[in-house]
Amino acid sequence: MLIPKFTNSWRPLLGTLVLISAAQACRQRFPHFSKERATPEERRAIGAGIPYVPAEATDKMDLAQNMQLRREKAWEVFRELTREVSIGRNPEIQGFDPNSTGSLPLWQTWYTGEEMPIMFRSVYAKLSSEQRKDRRPICPEVLDTLFENHAKAAVKGFTPEELEQRLSQVKSLQEVRGISGRGITMFSPALLRHYFENYAYVLKCEAERANLLPETILSPANHTPCFASEFPSGLDFPYPLPPADYSHCKNSKETRPDVNHGAAVTIKTSWRKADTGVIGKFDTSDKGLTKHLTEGAWKPDQEIPSQSLTPNKIFTIKLLASAKSYNLESIHIVSKETRDWLWITFWWSPDPNTDFGEDRPASFTGTPWANYKMCVVADFLEGDLDPGAHYKDTHPSLASALSVSQQWASPYTQCSNPFIEQGQGNVETNCIGCHQHAGSNANPEEIYLDDPKNPRTPASRLKYPHHSRSQARQNFPADYLWSLTQSPDFFESEITSTISNVDSGI
Ligand code: HEC
Repeated sequence: MLIPKFTNSWRPLLGTLVLISAAQACRQRFPHFSKERATPEERRAIGAGIPYVPAEATDKMDLAQNMQLRREKAWEVFRELTREVSIGRNPEIQGFDPNSTGSLPLWQTWYTGEEMPIMFRSVYAKLSSEQRKDRRPICPEVLDTLFENHAKAAVKGFTPEELEQRLSQVKSLQEVRGISGRGITMFSPALLRHYFENYAYVLKCEAERANLLPETILSPANHTPCFASEFPSGLDFPYPLPPADYSHCKNSKETRPDVNHGAAVTIKTSWRKADTGVIGKFDTSDKGLTKHLTEGAWKPDQEIPSQSLTPNKIFTIKLLASAKSYNLESIHIVSKETRDWLWITFWWSPDPNTDFGEDRPASFTGTPWANYKMCVVADFLEGDLDPGAHYKDTHPSLASALSVSQQWASPYTQCSNPFIEQGQGNVETNCIGCHQHAGSNANPEEIYLDDPKNPRTPASRLKYPHHSRSQARQNFPADYLWSLTQSPDFFESEITSTISNVDSGI
């Protein structure tokens, strides 16, 4: 891991981090997040988000039928997304030193939902009013350079003195980690680019999905009505762009992107304030998992004082704006490795090398990522007849935990994160079963509900059979992503309102 070296050249660079943008101030929807999430100013320090391009194509059936391949793939994705990448190589910033060696895990260079409408506005507003009226596409050459341009966007409203003052606070590795904020959801460049390419489809999306029956098959190649095609895998490059009139673009005949922004990936994290209070320890061994599955809701088996955790024991950031430190409890990753994505989740554990952490590759040793356990899902159905068998001799505690999961959920999959999948009934879920309903009018809390005390439970269980683990739809209105319509990101309404604002001159 690279240890950042701070020279005077970081002064202007890091000074940009302190500033709270006008755009952020305008975002009143989640005022409690202010100062805690990456802002466009911080983006100047990070630079453009680094793409993730899978090393090779993944065959969904291979992963679905073989737990060992599935887990190896998941660790591989995690290895790549936690790879340290250099940041701050933004030559536009005065005083920039190309030798500075600040670095972040790759996923931390990605975008918060708050940056999406800012970027969308910057490219949509470049269309002429006639082009906007015709819902002409944003040209591929504009999107090719968008992420770099966004990272260099002008930052208003700070003085050199403020920069100096902030510089004195950036001393540790944890403070560098804090540059990216503690955004809850984060999006890869390719995922956002797909939205921008498809803005005219997103605009029609509400009407398209209004009367869409769950059993309707839309097209064998595209299961979502909100985009001209599904999200990119990074390996389908150069993919065809949505059919449209590109005659206003530089290369009107060659309607393909020139820059590969990689695979669509989204991340959801959960953080806890460091050095104060306690953090839960969840027993996910065969016995522990049986207990949690029986009880139906995750409850910590033990509480560990946060003060006992040093940054090598848990991934830790220190935010520059508030000077508060946070520990990363868990991280969800959804990656377009296959048409139905790969669903991976990691949770912190004080004894990380047993059960769901027993097969963690040695390459993680010595990094904070060695403190996390993992489960992964590639399909609704468990296609491996005996998921534990691969590990019986080599990783016995993993083998028996996997067997418990399989016995409980069979014939479906099960994988849920103790820190995130909260609520009675959420231990048994499998990510994909709930996410299939994204973009429909389903209420996510009803999907997992299994509380005998709750009067809504019988209706929910009827509507979402097999504890919501089975496939209940043939089309996926949001290509499985809740961020299209749900809090905190509301991408559909962000796009719609940005269009209406720009069109009416606001
Ligand atoms: C019962 C429903 C449910 C289950 C189960 C569930 N999620 Fe989600 N997920 C949501 C909702 C609702 C959101 C949007 C709100 C939010 O971010 O909290 C979301 C958001 C996300 C996001 C952010 C981006 C997006 O567009 O969806 C990721 C990544 C994610 N979930 C991954 C997972 C993984 C991995 C699992 C399984 C380990 C999982 N989810 C299980 C309902 C669910």
